[in-house]
Amino acid sequence: MVKVNLGGCKSFVSDALYSDYIGKALDAYDVLAGEQGAGNDFLGWKTLPCDVTEDIICRCESVRDLWASKGVDLVVVIGIGGSYLGARCAIEALSHSFVRKQGVPQVVFAGNNLSEDYIAEMMDLARQRNTACVVISKSGTTTEPAVAFRLVKSYIEETYGKQEASQRIVAITDAVKGALKTLATQEGYTTFVVPDNVGGRFSVLTPVGLLPIMLAGFDVRAMLAGADSERESLLVRGADNAAVQYAAMRNLLYSEQGKGVEILVSFNPKFQYLGEWWKQLYGESEGKDRKGIFPASVICTTDLHSMGQFIQDGSRNMFETVVTVENASREVVIGSDPQNLDQLNYLAGQRVEHCNRMAQLGTKLAHIDGGVPQLEISVDAINEKTLGALFYFFEFACGVSAYLLGVNPFNQPGVEAYKKNMFALLRKPGFEAQSREILERIK
Ligand code: PA5
Repeated sequence: MVKVNLGGCKSFVSDALYSDYIGKALDAYDVLAGEQGAGNDFLGWKTLPCDVTEDIICRCESVRDLWASKGVDLVVVIGIGGSYLGARCAIEALSHSFVRKQGVPQVVFAGNNLSEDYIAEMMDLARQRNTACVVISKSGTTTEPAVAFRLVKSYIEETYGKQEASQRIVAITDAVKGALKTLATQEGYTTFVVPDNVGGRFSVLTPVGLLPIMLAGFDVRAMLAGADSERESLLVRGADNAAVQYAAMRNLLYSEQGKGVEILVSFNPKFQYLGEWWKQLYGESEGKDRKGIFPASVICTTDLHSMGQFIQDGSRNMFETVVTVENASREVVIGSDPQNLDQLNYLAGQRVEHCNRMAQLGTKLAHIDGGVPQLEISVDAINEKTLGALFYFFEFACGVSAYLLGVNPFNQPGVEAYKKNMFALLRKPGFEAQSREILERIK
């Protein structure tokens, strides 16, 4: 379902070097398939498309139906990193860009920053609406979602009463440990489990992603089916395996040609959050031990009018991975104008998508001429099935790629550094000893 086209790298890479890297990628594939590599206790995501039970989906439907019966028209999804990006990516990709879907609640996201303005404005919205909340934290102790949840929880309790609040709050967290689990048990919230062997950024196909996506009105069974058929196609080992090809080429460009930046490009703004989800997946999985490709993203043609100059002509340390959607869902034809003052009549009768495609092809040639290799990943349309396939493809390819690079794809030790300093500055109990030193250093 997900196709890879490496034609845009041909002029940069010899066949011999590519086949060398295919060999390395196949070795890495074997480590992932054989589950012998670093972090192999976090491989539960590999079988999620067929492991998610009908019972889990039915429990999600019960939450959806209960909230519908209460007239809930706003769901605040609280979480950060892997605990919100997958759901946001799918909901943004599948939703109308301007009109709210009828008959389902609006899903908004909070707890992914510490901006006072953002939280206050989200609360303004909550106060105007019939509100429920899904709080997601695998560890159950992350500061950003905990701060947002404290506010939303007390608002819901004050507005609807404590007993009703327990029906309007759902927690998705660890099966046994963490502050959120303790609170959820104490308050009697409906809970869903993030499996122990699935890390946050690989969790979109658990209730972490599935519940918010379903609440927003989308078909999670189709998403799992799309992911499962991608899983089956990636089970076939060989030089034609799409994940092996992607992992091989991006590592070759990085290690042999100093291309340390990968830009995920889409010519469809619905994929803006695919870029955000992908950046977390690859950034946290590969950026360690002083190694890794820096993941960036742009939306075209929008960003050709901002980042385009740099990509065409700036430092030559980057390559692009373009995610192409072969078929637009809608047709818009450009009309004829008798005056033709804008001189666009040469396009009369053409679809806007035709112009978009020509812009994509023109950009490909220009960027290749400018020294930027281009990989292409394509799906036939944007729908639940193809999103499921893309999620699975990128996760699997990430595992192969990180093992090829020689890092553990499934940990994120670097994320702790800012937290320690922040806790010391906030004088969190247990961190007082570091406070003085940190205060000295920031003077
Ligand atoms: O990929 C990861 O594990 C992280 O980015 C987490 O998703 C993120 O830090 C949120 O963690 P938690 O769900 O424990 O609140």
